[in-house]
Amino acid sequence: MGGKKGFGAAALFLLTIGVAERIPAQGPPPATPPQGGVQTPPAGGPGGQGGRGGGGRRGGGFVPGQTRLPGDPAQIARGKTLYGINCTGCHGADLRGGDMGGPNLLRSQVALSDQNGELIVPIIQGSRQNAGMPAIDVSPADGAAVATYVRSIMETIGRQGMPPSVGLPPPSVLVGDAREGQAYFAAKCSSCHSVTGDLQGIASRYADAKALQNAFVSGGGGRGRGGRGAGGAPGAPNPRTVMVTVTLPTGAVEGQVVRIDDFLVTVGLADGTLRTIRRDGNVPKVEVHDPMKGHRDLLSTYTDKDMHDVTAYLVTLK
Ligand code: HEC
Ligand code: HEC
Repeated sequence: MGGKKGFGAAALFLLTIGVAERIPAQGPPPATPPQGGVQTPPAGGPGGQGGRGGGGRRGGGFVPGQTRLPGDPAQIARGKTLYGINCTGCHGADLRGGDMGGPNLLRSQVALSDQNGELIVPIIQGSRQNAGMPAIDVSPADGAAVATYVRSIMETIGRQGMPPSVGLPPPSVLVGDAREGQAYFAAKCSSCHSVTGDLQGIASRYADAKALQNAFVSGGGGRGRGGRGAGGAPGAPNPRTVMVTVTLPTGAVEGQVVRIDDFLVTVGLADGTLRTIRRDGNVPKVEVHDPMKGHRDLLSTYTDKDMHDVTAYLVTLK
């Protein structure tokens, strides 16, 4: 509804401010240059990390050529799980930014500079709350595990100091594969939807890919439905209406659920009349059909990839 939308816009606005106002809050650059004798970068490593400091692109903060100890695999695994639970929504499964407004961590100076959780953990614990990053209730050890995981990903993609997508940054919800989304749609959605029927032109009914993704995840809020409510044929069934079938000895009574409790069920019949039927335990048989249930049930089965693939497919439905 309008209220919800307004809230979303306001939240986005706040987030934008938060980002705009962000002053680099990192600590001062490490004072010790790499020739401190602590570590020597492996000579001739595959690409080394030369790109990281390449051309002095980063003004301080990160010490070029510095190597980090590889994280403990068990800690990384734990961190991955915790990241999935606590961070994915905002920062994305691939760390490139998520649907709920967190920035791309692969380009984060903080994450790049973090050595042992000392920069990331305070942020997890709430140091950026007024910039839109909530305090997340994890133990210091778990915070460190998440930080290790984040660093481990940066190690794998950061050889050139840049994520592979540089130069063609798609909006974060549009990282999916439309073909795979189409296959997913055929398998999981086409029992209820058709791209030449109810979802025809769905992409043009939503402002952007994010709104569209929200709509398919939630089933839409009735927004952007082209005034079906107002302009639709009078009496046209609302596809979300919860229906009921009551099986009486004289036949089945079918209609909209007007009211239901343990003792009575009131059915709104197609001709507009109401019929109230007494219930006694399982007699008569009452079957409630909520059209959105199947849609909701899917929610818990989407992987992030499914979501992005389906979104990438749906945006093609203009
Ligand atoms: C509700 C959304 C949300 C969640 C959940 C969230 N973050 Fe954030 N995160 C943000 C926002 C927004 C910012 C940007 C804050 C700023 O501009 O200072 C941010 C910033 C960060 C930064 C600093 C990036 C930089 O370079 O400034 C790190 C690191 C980070 N988050 C890690 C995490 C980790 C790890 C988790 C999970 C434990 C997590 N975040 C969960 C929204 C979130
Ligand atoms: C069990 C049936 C069912 C399944 C399966 C299902 N949906 Fe839905 N979906 C619905 C119903 C019912 C609505 C509400 C339709 C309406 O209000 O017009 C809905 C609403 C939507 C909307 C919002 C439509 C609009 O007009 O705003 C989108 C988008 C959508 N579904 C996409 C999907 C996708 C993508 C899948 C598969 C991943 C899926 N649905 C699976 C039943 C289903």
